[in-house]
Amino acid sequence: MKTLVTCALPYANGPIHLGHMVEHIQTDIFVRFLRSQGEQVVFLCADDTHGTAIEISAEKQGITPEKFIEQVSIEHQAVFKDFQVSFDLYSSTNSPENRYYAELIYNRAKEAGFIGEKDVEQAFDETANRFLADRFIKGECPNCGTKDQYGDACEKCSATYGPKELKNPYSVLSGKTPVWKTSKHLFFKLPKHEAFLKEQLAKPGFMNAGLATQLQQFFQKGLADWDISRDGPYFGFPIPGETNKFFYVWLDAPIGYISAAEVWAKTTGKAKSALDFWAKDADARIIHVIGKDIVYFHCLFWPSVLEVAGLKVPEQVHIHGHLTVNGEKMSKSRGTFINARPYLDVLDPNYLRFYYASLLGPGPEDLDFSLLEFRQRVNAELVNNLGNLANRTLSLLAKDKALAPANEAVGGQLVRDALAKVKDIAAAYGGFDHRQAIKLILEIGYSANQFLAKAEPWKTVKTDPSGAKSVLSEAAEIVYLLTALLDPVVPQLAQKLADQLNRPKLTFKALQTAQYPLLDRAAPLGEPSPIINRIEEAVVATLVVTPPKEEPKKKEVAPPAPPSAEIEFGDFVKVSLRAGKVLTAVKVPKADKLLQLSVDLGEGTPRTIVSGIAEAYQAEQLVGRNVVVVANLKPRPLKGIESRGMVLTSGAGGKDLVLLDPGDVPPGTEVK
Ligand code: MSP
Ligand code: ZN
Repeated sequence: MKTLVTCALPYANGPIHLGHMVEHIQTDIFVRFLRSQGEQVVFLCADDTHGTAIEISAEKQGITPEKFIEQVSIEHQAVFKDFQVSFDLYSSTNSPENRYYAELIYNRAKEAGFIGEKDVEQAFDETANRFLADRFIKGECPNCGTKDQYGDACEKCSATYGPKELKNPYSVLSGKTPVWKTSKHLFFKLPKHEAFLKEQLAKPGFMNAGLATQLQQFFQKGLADWDISRDGPYFGFPIPGETNKFFYVWLDAPIGYISAAEVWAKTTGKAKSALDFWAKDADARIIHVIGKDIVYFHCLFWPSVLEVAGLKVPEQVHIHGHLTVNGEKMSKSRGTFINARPYLDVLDPNYLRFYYASLLGPGPEDLDFSLLEFRQRVNAELVNNLGNLANRTLSLLAKDKALAPANEAVGGQLVRDALAKVKDIAAAYGGFDHRQAIKLILEIGYSANQFLAKAEPWKTVKTDPSGAKSVLSEAAEIVYLLTALLDPVVPQLAQKLADQLNRPKLTFKALQTAQYPLLDRAAPLGEPSPIINRIEEAVVATLVVTPPKEEPKKKEVAPPAPPSAEIEFGDFVKVSLRAGKVLTAVKVPKADKLLQLSVDLGEGTPRTIVSGIAEAYQAEQLVGRNVVVVANLKPRPLKGIESRGMVLTSGAGGKDLVLLDPGDVPPGTEVK
């Protein structure tokens, strides 16, 4: 039997971040494990490319949505490849295959009487000439009055409401007040499937039991029809038989799982079509991996859609929790929204793969990327425990690159104890309980390290070289075992171990019948080299960088003030401009806008200048900086301080002020 495994299809409107990687890494571990067991697995994913947000992002960049999603797909795929996510194919929902299956499924649903129509009243932007989804309309929260809240929920007071309840609503696209317009929408009649869904949710192994119980609540409230159409303009597939109506992105997104299988079948020739997996009677099982935020779509809508289309319903939807960073929701303003590419720029992907594996259990609990724990765990467990075991063993055997004959009395127990854990490790990987697998592997590592610490072959190598070699050869058995056990999590490192042992990696399949000794002791060893380095604190710290405050929104531009009375050129040249260096800067008490500077103008004694730039600059940003000073301004008192001169800036005032820069010249230099 074949297994089709998928990750949720990432939206094509943004980069891959460490939250996405929770899903892709855990699924890749699962898939690599199945392959190691000798199972036939196809691992697929795709970009989810449709919807208004993507169209608008493309428009902002001045390119077509097709071009936009093409660029994003290249970036997404490069990230997954660099994290060693071993997809058999990465596709796109904007493919002819996806359109084919979307139409097929829709037509079947329609024939089966599962499609209805209803009029829907929606906000419409007459300037942008389009209907506005809840996220494209903003206004004042009807509950607490906070301004600039989205049409579905308030970020301040967490109230949820409909977009029509917003006070003073405006379109995010044009800033104009939307009008309310009615239009026909198509609906999928979910309530017709209540009995089917109840049965589906109760199937053992289909989904997490706790979450299934939560979904049952929808049956009590009554399932609602699902709106599957959007009026144009909309980046998506037109609905057959309708004018200017498109499939809602969430209808064709999961169909991407089917079309990706179709593209895979066509391009590899390894299957006739997607139906080798998706036909009701196909000899295959389908496993989806998703985050807990999209359970509703995958466990209610999707099985219904498949069922009505006569296709195979997934055997399992594995649901994981969300990633937090340093204990909090990832946030752009706090700098804790870590994208995958910047991570890869500074750190080894194996660290993250190992760290996530060590945290991920079978349930949907959230997991935390704590910078401290990340570093400590990786350094203690991956580098010190497992890496050092391999390092010590292989480097001490490097002299003649040969193993001693198997010595049951020395290593038999060690190896058999380790082999006894393999079944549980396999069960853990197969049940998405990666942290349990890691825990057991670490136990094997600790025992082997203790075994070495007790025998101290690094000491006995001089007095009893053959005894030392025998001990090290038994430890090498464990290193060899690790080539299979670690392969799902850190395949590159497992490969390194195998190369240094000069043997192919072991597999979980081989381990099902393996016995002591695992290694053919007559075959020579390879070249030892360090397995993996420790993570440096300074490097991890660079992952979270608080970004500069977002640029304030452009204010409505006031008409320019009429120029003051004309002055003679002779008056103008009287202004003496000098370069100065700021020596100290402090806030003027009880004056929000003022800083008191002491500025070196090359005159021996620095000048005190009071400057209205406190909203644009922090005092400490100014020290050491060169500025342009009007040097011959008559001294004038400001807030009780005598200011001698004026620092020149450009900009509209307030926060929008930029200091003029005289360049890198000595204080006192005349500025022209
Ligand atoms: N496009 C939809 C899925 C369509 S599937 C037919 C989508 N995309 S997404 O890019 O927002 O999310 C993709 C997957 O990443 C989802 O399973 C989501 O739960 C997961 N994650 C997104 N942020 C996450 C975290 N912070 N932590 C863990 N997983 C997260 O939803
Ligand atoms: Zn509110």
